[in-house]
Amino acid sequence: MSNTPDRVDFDEYADRYEDLLQDQLSFFSKDRGYFSDHKASLAARQFDKPPNRILDFGCGIGLSLPYLAKYFPNAELFATDISEKSLQHVAKTHQAVTVLQNGEVDGHCFDLIFAAGVFHHIPPAQRREACARLSACLSPGGRVCVFEHNPYNPVTRRMVSTCPFDEDAVLLKRRELANLLADTRGLTVERREYCLFFPEPLKGLQPIERFLGWLPLGGQYYVVARK
Ligand SMILES: C[S@@+](CC[C@H](N)C(=O)[O-])C[C@H]1O[C@@H](n2cnc3c(N)ncnc32)[C@H](O)[C@@H]1O
Repeated sequence: MSNTPDRVDFDEYADRYEDLLQDQLSFFSKDRGYFSDHKASLAARQFDKPPNRILDFGCGIGLSLPYLAKYFPNAELFATDISEKSLQHVAKTHQAVTVLQNGEVDGHCFDLIFAAGVFHHIPPAQRREACARLSACLSPGGRVCVFEHNPYNPVTRRMVSTCPFDEDAVLLKRRELANLLADTRGLTVERREYCLFFPEPLKGLQPIERFLGWLPLGGQYYVVARK
């Protein structure tokens, strides 16, 4: 018998993804967008010269897209996912975004690939290939910015264990993700930091977060690698 959990089919969750996520996050924030906004702002901090072409890889129903548009107002936005139903939702709700089916991504060139909460859904044996694919789609000097759940944070672990669409989740430690990206041909890891320390009621403390990137207590972490 295999120990690998069956893969979650996000087509089944596309219609209620937002409600399920809001249930999960309601303890921390009334505004589900608070964390998506923060992640997009962290991605924006990685660039002196703003990227022109951005791919939201594993975009789901597109909850990060309004914030990528907010922090990168002049960029051309693209979105892809393996869930066709999620992509149909994105095509309807974000008409300024170019939707790429999973097979259409290769051959494109992006200055930023943003991936939030995707890698823990990719089976471990397929993660190297996924990194190689992302690297191949980056322009020279382009960056991939990957956000993941922090397995050291007990609240994060509890949320994952009770979330229906996380049934296939295999969480990765920050070191594992950084090593995966560092071992990918063409990529150099520039940053690896814990983040999402402060829920919305404590957002006044957010400026402190930039000094806490080393502390494995954030709800998530992110790793940035440059081509
Ligand atoms: C937890 S959702 C996150 C959605 C979105 N990034 C967000 O933050 O709201 C994970 C998404 O990753 C997608 N996914 C999983 N494996 C993928 C792969 N190999 N390529 C592209 N998308 C993938 C799933 O279909 C799902 O929509």
